[in-house]
Amino acid sequence: MIIGTAGFTAGLSVQRLEDNGLTVDQGPVLVAGATGGVGSLAVNILVKRGYDVTASTGKANEADYLKTLGAKDVIDRHEVEDTEQKPVRGKRWAGAVDPVGGQTLQYILSTLNYDGSVATSGLTGGTEVYIRASFHFKGN
Ligand SMILES: NC(=O)c1ccc[n+]([C@@H]2O[C@H](COP(=O)([O-])OP(=O)(O)OC[C@H]3O[C@@H](n4cnc5c(N)ncnc54)[C@H](OP(=O)(O)O)[C@@H]3O)[C@@H](O)[C@H]2O)c1
Repeated sequence: MIIGTAGFTAGLSVQRLEDNGLTVDQGPVLVAGATGGVGSLAVNILVKRGYDVTASTGKANEADYLKTLGAKDVIDRHEVEDTEQKPVRGKRWAGAVDPVGGQTLQYILSTLNYDGSVATSGLTGGTEVYIRASFHFKGN
């Protein structure tokens, strides 16, 4: 009851990433929409489990708040938006929690490490996702 449905969604997202093989030694995990309900609780849960968390946000003035939650790095949300529809970029993330969707999900898919995974649950950043590469989907 304390963590609410946003916390439940954040917890299920982390569980799904770990079910897909995510471990703390694999590198940074991105949380998009990090000041939101799902995002802030995902940051909290991941940090408590020992992950290096990069939080992306559109609210630069909330960087200190995200650091107090334990985020190692805080980056601007525009840095994780795929405005050019590039299918592949340099690999950055072992995993990601994405309550944003749209161009943010496109960006995450193009920058996940091989065998990395993303748990996506929202569409605050848009409902359309263009995917041009082929992916191996695990789970539901
Ligand atoms: N809450 C739940 O129980 C729950 C359960 C399942 C699914 N969902 C879905 O998950 C999504 C997020 O839910 P929430 O409860 O976390 O909502 P929220 O508290 O409103 O947080 C959403 C966050 O997304 C970011 N954002 C907002 N507009 C954006 C835009 N145009 N482009 C990119 N980022 C944007 C903002 O974070 P920054 O300013 O930090 O970037 C905002 O705080 C929704 O689509 C919701 O339907 C929620």
